[in-house]
Amino acid sequence: MANEVLKNEILKIEGVRKGFDGLLAVDGCSLSVQEGTIVGLIGPNGAGKSTLFDLISGFVRPDVGSIVFSGKEIVGLPAYKIARLGLIRTFQIPRALMRMTVLENLMLGSQNQMGEMIFAPIIRKSKVQAEEKDIENKAEEILKFFDLLRMKDEYAGSMSGGQKKMLEMARALMADPRLLLLDEPFAGLNPTLSERLIERIKKLREKGLTIMIIEHAIPYVLALSDELYVLNKGAVLANGHPDKVISDPRVFEAYLGVGFDAQP
Ligand SMILES: Nc1ncnc2c1ncn2[C@@H]1O[C@H](COP(=O)(O)OP(=O)(O)O)[C@@H](O)[C@H]1O
Ligand SMILES: [Mg+2]
Repeated sequence: MANEVLKNEILKIEGVRKGFDGLLAVDGCSLSVQEGTIVGLIGPNGAGKSTLFDLISGFVRPDVGSIVFSGKEIVGLPAYKIARLGLIRTFQIPRALMRMTVLENLMLGSQNQMGEMIFAPIIRKSKVQAEEKDIENKAEEILKFFDLLRMKDEYAGSMSGGQKKMLEMARALMADPRLLLLDEPFAGLNPTLSERLIERIKKLREKGLTIMIIEHAIPYVLALSDELYVLNKGAVLANGHPDKVISDPRVFEAYLGVGFDAQP
């Protein structure tokens, strides 16, 4: 029943538009994300994918349209307030603080508040120090989850490009997201790290996290997504089951001259 489906809708975007100096980067985009699923977002370069993440996470405000997260309209809310609601994004280019250690980078990612936590649910204590320790424990648990614990005291600047991408995700998890937006998490990862990341992302879904993922390596998107959206010129060109969407001739056409990345 329709009501049954809507009950689990964690994100609903309707008619969102954003122009930059006359160019419509996002042009009447509507989509819906069910709680506990992984939604893939693909489309040719410049289709507006990253801008859509900017709009959802409040880094950029749409000209028109509605974005409802967990039943609440979030258009107009500042990014930090949206983050506090449990909607966290990562960036296409990692934003780690290079002169801080890996552990310190994670500790900064903590919102230091109790919510529905996936990692190390901690008991509220009165002392700031105790809280610091709790945050550190949580950071270490997340680093372990990404196989990065042995690097915790290294400078983030000394990590490889792929490790920095993992760090970016690890830091996002510190904020206890309910919805995590990943912008090209596989870019710059070697095949071994990519395989590991696929497994980790699946584990996060098992833990109940909802994930939206922009990715141009189609095999990874197909391996992960429950539902796939194709963005073209700022609007949804196709959506549905990934296998169905990927064999849609209109999708192939949109990529003409750009081409799928057949290999990850
Ligand atoms: N801050 C900005 N100022 C001006 N133009 C922008 C800005 N952000 C994105 N754009 C433009 O919007 C379009 C969509 O970009 P983007 O969302 O990055 O695409 P994608 O992530 O799908 O490759 C591009 O033409 C890009 O140049
Ligand atoms: Mg992009």
